[in-house]
Amino acid sequence: TYRIAVFASGEGSNFQALAEAASAGSLGGAEIALLVCDKPSAPVVQRAEQLGITAHLFNPKDYESREAYEHEIVLRLEELQVNLVVLAGYMRLLTPVIVHQYRGRLINIHPSLLPAFPGKDAIGQALEYGVKLSGVTVHFVDEGMDTGPIIAQKAIHIVSGETAESFAQAVHGVERELYPEVVSWFAQGLVQLEGRQVTVARKS
Ligand code: GAR
Repeated sequence: TYRIAVFASGEGSNFQALAEAASAGSLGGAEIALLVCDKPSAPVVQRAEQLGITAHLFNPKDYESREAYEHEIVLRLEELQVNLVVLAGYMRLLTPVIVHQYRGRLINIHPSLLPAFPGKDAIGQALEYGVKLSGVTVHFVDEGMDTGPIIAQKAIHIVSGETAESFAQAVHGVERELYPEVVSWFAQGLVQLEGRQVTVARKS
Protein backbone atom coordinates (compact mmCIF):
# COMPACT_ATOMS: atom_id res chain seq x y z
CA THR A 1 0.00 0.00 0.00
CA TYR A 2 0.89 3.62 -0.52
CA ARG A 3 1.41 5.21 2.86
CA ILE A 4 1.14 8.88 3.71
CA ALA A 5 1.98 10.89 6.82
CA VAL A 6 -0.04 14.04 7.48
CA PHE A 7 1.57 16.92 9.40
CA ALA A 8 -0.88 19.32 11.05
CA SER A 9 -0.89 21.90 13.84
CA GLY A 10 -4.49 22.95 14.26
CA GLU A 11 -8.08 22.24 13.35
CA GLY A 12 -7.40 19.34 11.05
CA SER A 13 -10.21 19.76 8.53
CA ASN A 14 -7.82 18.75 5.73
CA PHE A 15 -6.61 15.79 7.79
CA GLN A 16 -10.23 14.74 8.26
CA ALA A 17 -10.97 15.08 4.54
CA LEU A 18 -7.95 12.92 3.68
CA ALA A 19 -8.96 10.30 6.25
CA GLU A 20 -12.52 10.19 4.93
CA ALA A 21 -11.29 9.88 1.36
CA ALA A 22 -9.01 7.02 2.41
CA SER A 23 -11.93 5.16 4.07
CA ALA A 24 -14.15 5.80 1.06
CA GLY A 25 -11.50 4.34 -1.24
CA SER A 26 -11.07 7.62 -3.13
CA LEU A 27 -7.45 8.30 -2.14
CA GLY A 28 -6.00 6.17 -4.92
CA GLY A 29 -5.50 3.32 -2.47
CA ALA A 30 -3.41 5.45 -0.08
CA GLU A 31 -3.73 5.10 3.66
CA ILE A 32 -2.78 7.49 6.45
CA ALA A 33 -0.01 5.80 8.39
CA LEU A 34 0.73 8.66 10.78
CA LEU A 35 -0.32 12.08 12.03
CA VAL A 36 2.60 14.33 13.04
CA CYS A 37 1.58 17.22 15.29
CA ASP A 38 3.62 19.88 17.08
CA LYS A 39 0.70 20.98 19.27
CA PRO A 40 -0.47 18.10 21.46
CA SER A 41 -3.62 20.06 22.48
CA ALA A 42 -4.74 20.78 18.89
CA PRO A 43 -8.18 19.53 17.75
CA VAL A 44 -6.53 17.47 14.99
CA VAL A 45 -5.15 15.15 17.69
CA GLN A 46 -8.67 14.24 18.85
CA ARG A 47 -9.70 13.63 15.27
CA ALA A 48 -6.82 11.17 14.86
CA GLU A 49 -7.81 9.41 18.09
CA GLN A 50 -11.41 9.05 16.92
CA LEU A 51 -10.26 7.70 13.58
CA GLY A 52 -7.77 5.30 15.17
CA ILE A 53 -4.82 6.87 13.37
CA THR A 54 -1.41 6.71 15.06
CA ALA A 55 -0.07 10.10 16.14
CA HIS A 56 3.47 11.35 16.71
CA LEU A 57 3.07 14.29 19.08
CA PHE A 58 5.87 16.52 20.26
CA ASN A 59 6.49 19.90 21.80
CA PRO A 60 9.23 21.85 19.98
CA LYS A 61 10.18 23.52 23.28
CA ASP A 62 11.40 20.18 24.60
CA TYR A 63 14.18 20.07 21.99
CA GLU A 64 17.34 22.06 21.64
CA SER A 65 16.95 22.50 17.88
CA ARG A 66 14.46 22.02 15.05
CA GLU A 67 16.84 19.46 13.56
CA ALA A 68 16.62 17.40 16.77
CA TYR A 69 12.85 16.86 16.62
CA GLU A 70 12.91 16.45 12.85
CA HIS A 71 15.46 13.62 13.19
CA GLU A 72 12.97 11.82 15.44
CA ILE A 73 10.19 12.41 12.92
CA VAL A 74 12.31 11.03 10.05
CA LEU A 75 12.99 7.86 12.08
CA ARG A 76 9.24 7.44 12.56
CA LEU A 77 8.55 8.01 8.86
CA GLU A 78 11.18 5.47 7.86
CA GLU A 79 9.93 2.93 10.38
CA LEU A 80 6.44 3.20 8.86
CA GLN A 81 7.77 3.24 5.28
CA VAL A 82 5.97 6.45 4.44
CA ASN A 83 5.84 7.23 0.70
CA LEU A 84 4.51 10.78 0.83
CA VAL A 85 4.59 13.54 3.45
CA VAL A 86 1.48 15.73 3.32
CA LEU A 87 1.54 19.07 5.16
CA ALA A 88 -1.98 20.17 6.11
CA GLY A 89 -1.91 23.33 8.19
CA TYR A 90 1.49 22.49 9.68
CA MET A 91 2.54 25.94 10.83
CA ARG A 92 6.28 25.43 11.02
CA LEU A 93 9.11 25.78 8.52
CA LEU A 94 10.90 22.51 7.83
CA THR A 95 14.68 22.17 7.95
CA PRO A 96 16.77 20.29 5.36
CA VAL A 97 16.59 17.22 7.66
CA ILE A 98 13.11 16.50 6.29
CA VAL A 99 13.19 18.59 3.10
CA HIS A 100 16.25 16.78 1.66
CA GLN A 101 15.20 13.32 2.72
CA TYR A 102 11.71 13.70 1.24
CA ARG A 103 12.45 15.90 -1.79
CA GLY A 104 9.83 15.19 -4.45
CA ARG A 105 7.76 13.31 -1.86
CA LEU A 106 6.74 16.27 0.31
CA ILE A 107 3.73 18.47 -0.45
CA ASN A 108 1.81 21.34 1.11
CA ILE A 109 -1.55 23.05 0.68
CA HIS A 110 -1.72 26.83 0.84
CA PRO A 111 -4.86 29.02 0.87
CA SER A 112 -3.95 31.41 -1.98
CA LEU A 113 -2.92 31.31 -5.62
CA LEU A 114 0.84 31.21 -5.11
CA PRO A 115 3.12 33.07 -5.62
CA ALA A 116 0.59 35.59 -4.27
CA PHE A 117 0.25 35.82 -0.51
CA PRO A 118 2.76 33.33 0.88
CA GLY A 119 3.20 32.92 4.62
CA LYS A 120 0.71 33.28 7.40
CA ASP A 121 -2.95 34.32 7.05
CA ALA A 122 -3.06 34.17 3.25
CA ILE A 123 -6.85 34.44 3.40
CA GLY A 124 -6.68 37.68 5.38
CA GLN A 125 -3.89 39.01 3.14
CA ALA A 126 -5.98 38.43 -0.01
CA LEU A 127 -9.05 40.18 1.43
CA GLU A 128 -6.95 43.05 2.72
CA TYR A 129 -5.31 43.50 -0.68
CA GLY A 130 -8.70 43.45 -2.38
CA VAL A 131 -7.99 40.85 -5.06
CA LYS A 132 -11.08 39.59 -6.87
CA LEU A 133 -9.62 36.15 -7.55
CA SER A 134 -7.77 33.96 -5.09
CA GLY A 135 -7.82 30.25 -4.41
CA VAL A 136 -5.87 27.24 -3.25
CA THR A 137 -2.47 25.85 -4.24
CA VAL A 138 -0.93 22.42 -3.70
CA HIS A 139 2.84 22.47 -4.19
CA PHE A 140 6.03 20.58 -3.49
CA VAL A 141 7.93 21.84 -0.46
CA ASP A 142 11.46 23.17 -0.81
CA GLU A 143 13.63 25.21 1.58
CA GLY A 144 11.65 28.40 1.07
CA MET A 145 8.35 29.61 2.48
CA ASP A 146 5.63 28.42 0.06
CA THR A 147 8.05 28.54 -2.91
CA GLY A 148 8.19 24.96 -4.22
CA PRO A 149 7.00 23.74 -7.64
CA ILE A 150 3.22 23.99 -8.09
CA ILE A 151 1.21 20.80 -8.63
CA ALA A 152 -2.39 22.06 -8.73
CA GLN A 153 -4.38 25.24 -8.23
CA LYS A 154 -8.08 26.06 -7.99
CA ALA A 155 -9.38 29.61 -8.29
CA ILE A 156 -12.10 31.15 -6.15
CA HIS A 157 -13.84 34.43 -6.98
CA ILE A 158 -14.15 36.96 -4.21
CA VAL A 159 -17.62 38.44 -4.57
CA SER A 160 -18.71 41.85 -3.35
CA GLY A 161 -19.78 41.74 0.26
CA GLU A 162 -17.48 38.79 0.94
CA THR A 163 -16.59 38.46 4.60
CA ALA A 164 -13.57 36.82 6.14
CA GLU A 165 -15.89 34.02 7.27
CA SER A 166 -17.59 33.39 3.94
CA PHE A 167 -14.31 33.49 2.05
CA ALA A 168 -12.58 31.16 4.53
CA GLN A 169 -15.50 28.75 4.18
CA ALA A 170 -15.16 28.78 0.39
CA VAL A 171 -11.41 28.17 0.65
CA HIS A 172 -11.83 25.26 3.03
CA GLY A 173 -14.50 23.73 0.80
CA VAL A 174 -12.12 23.79 -2.16
CA GLU A 175 -9.28 22.41 -0.03
CA ARG A 176 -11.34 19.45 1.13
CA GLU A 177 -11.91 18.46 -2.52
CA LEU A 178 -8.53 19.31 -4.02
CA TYR A 179 -6.12 17.81 -1.50
CA PRO A 180 -7.49 14.24 -1.53
CA GLU A 181 -7.59 14.40 -5.33
CA VAL A 182 -3.92 15.42 -5.55
CA VAL A 183 -2.87 12.76 -3.02
CA SER A 184 -4.71 10.15 -5.10
CA TRP A 185 -2.66 11.23 -8.15
CA PHE A 186 0.52 10.53 -6.16
CA ALA A 187 -0.74 7.18 -4.96
CA GLN A 188 -1.44 6.22 -8.58
CA GLY A 189 2.05 7.33 -9.67
CA LEU A 190 0.68 10.05 -11.96
CA VAL A 191 2.87 12.97 -10.79
CA GLN A 192 6.29 13.71 -12.34
CA LEU A 193 8.70 16.44 -11.21
CA GLU A 194 11.51 17.63 -13.50
CA GLY A 195 13.28 20.76 -12.31
CA ARG A 196 10.40 23.07 -11.45
CA GLN A 197 8.05 21.50 -13.99
CA VAL A 198 5.31 19.27 -12.67
CA THR A 199 3.29 17.07 -14.96
CA VAL A 200 0.26 15.03 -14.04
CA ALA A 201 -0.57 12.14 -16.33
CA ARG A 202 -4.36 12.11 -16.51
CA LYS A 203 -6.11 8.84 -16.93
CA SER A 204 -8.42 8.99 -19.91
C1 GAR B 1 -5.66 25.41 5.70
O1 GAR B 1 -6.49 26.43 5.18
C2 GAR B 1 -4.31 25.42 5.01
O2 GAR B 1 -4.40 25.76 3.65
C3 GAR B 1 -3.58 26.47 5.78
O3 GAR B 1 -3.94 26.23 7.10
C4 GAR B 1 -5.29 25.74 7.14
C5 GAR B 1 -5.34 24.51 8.04
O4 GAR B 1 -6.67 24.11 8.25
N1 GAR B 1 -2.16 26.37 5.59
C6 GAR B 1 -1.34 27.42 5.52
O5 GAR B 1 -1.70 28.58 5.69
C7 GAR B 1 0.12 27.08 5.23
N2 GAR B 1 0.88 28.25 4.97
P1 GAR B 1 -7.00 22.67 8.85
O6 GAR B 1 -6.13 22.48 10.09
O7 GAR B 1 -8.46 22.72 9.20
O8 GAR B 1 -6.70 21.64 7.79
